[in-house]
Amino acid sequence: MTHSNPSLRVLLSAEQIQARIRELGAQIDRDYPDGQVYLVAILKGACFFLADLARAIQRQTRIDFIGISSYGKGKTTSGEVKLTKDLDSSIEGADVLVVEDIVDTGITLNYLMHVLRQRRPRSLRIAALLDKPSRRVRPVDVAYVGFQIPDQFVVGFGLDYAENYRNLSDVCVLEETAAAPKP
Ligand code: IMP
Repeated sequence: MTHSNPSLRVLLSAEQIQARIRELGAQIDRDYPDGQVYLVAILKGACFFLADLARAIQRQTRIDFIGISSYGKGKTTSGEVKLTKDLDSSIEGADVLVVEDIVDTGITLNYLMHVLRQRRPRSLRIAALLDKPSRRVRPVDVAYVGFQIPDQFVVGFGLDYAENYRNLSDVCVLEETAAAPKP
């Protein structure tokens, strides 16, 4: 599918992504104290990264999901963030690792970290598969970054454009062509 669509150019192959996730899992195993790592994935994009990262971590993990809306259907942010689905359990005293697909402006994670910090976890860190540092408008401290990428709109491995392309195994740049019209 990836290669038959002329508007998609592979930026990170499935193999590159999987190798990097294995490295991140090993690093997390080394860094964390004994006990459970409480993985909190941001819906929906981070689900693919979460599934692979959780299996790359040898420690005991717990998994939960949080829903945040900050983007519309297109490629630009509204700047507004709201919680659309809360966690199922308390994170008080837990070693929480927030799992995100991509850090762009930082607005989403800056807001989420503020919300989660108030719930008194023992530790609170972020793992993001992708980071676009040149786009940052709010500060975010990302402890585990898969890949830093340039300021290009990407899809695949959970990332969408108007809810499409999440199921690609590669991360691809979505190029502006007739096949990828603006909504
Ligand atoms: P931020 O609040 O600007 O950091 O945006 C984070 C969210 O924006 C991510 O979780 C994605 O849902 C979305 N996003 C940012 N850049 C991209 C991209 O290149 N492709 C797809 N979604 C993106």
